[in-house]
Amino acid sequence: MNHVLYYSMTGNTKKMAAAIAAELGVEARDVRKATGLPQDGLLFIGSGCYGDKPGEDLAKFLANNDLAGRKVALFGTSGAGAGKEVESMAATLKSKGAVVVGSYHSKGKAFVIVNLGHPNKDELDGARRFAREMVTQNG
Ligand SMILES: Cc1cc2nc3c(=O)[nH]c(=O)nc-3n(C[C@H](O)[C@H](O)[C@H](O)COP(=O)(O)O)c2cc1C
Repeated sequence: MNHVLYYSMTGNTKKMAAAIAAELGVEARDVRKATGLPQDGLLFIGSGCYGDKPGEDLAKFLANNDLAGRKVALFGTSGAGAGKEVESMAATLKSKGAVVVGSYHSKGKAFVIVNLGHPNKDELDGARRFAREMVTQNG
C-alpha cells in the first residue's frame, strides 16, 4: 500500500494531499496524527511552505523517523509557487538516505488575498497525474 502524509497550516496542501490520496485509493494522513512511519509502499510526503521550509511538525517527523532506503514522492504548495518546501524536504531526505523519486508543487492561497483559488483544478489535476506517474514508475 502507498501512503500520503502531509502538513497543512491553512488547508491548501491538505487539498493536494486529498487529491493524491484519492488517486491512490488511500486516505491522506495529517503528519501530526501519524503514529510512526508506515513500513511498506511508496511514501507521498507534502507540506506548505513557511519561510522557505516545510512545517515544523513535518520537519520533526522526517527527523524522527528512519527513512534510509525509502522511496519518497514529495509535494507542496506555497505563495510563490517556487517549490522551496519541496527542495528543503528533498535535501533532508537525501541526507537521511531516502530516495526522492519525484516532486510536484503549485501555488497556494496565501495571506487571505494572494493566489485566490489555488491550488486550482488544473493544479490538482496535475497532482493526480503526478500520483499516477509515481506509482507507475515506482510501484
Ligand atoms: C507563516 C507563513 C509563512 C509563509 N512563508 C512562505 C514562504 O516563505 N514562501 C512562500 O512562497 N510562501 C509562504 N507562505 C505562503 C504559504 O506557503 C502558502 O499559503 C501555502 O499554500 C500554505 O499551505 P497550507 O495551506 O497547506 O498551509 C507562508 C504562509 C504562512 C502562513
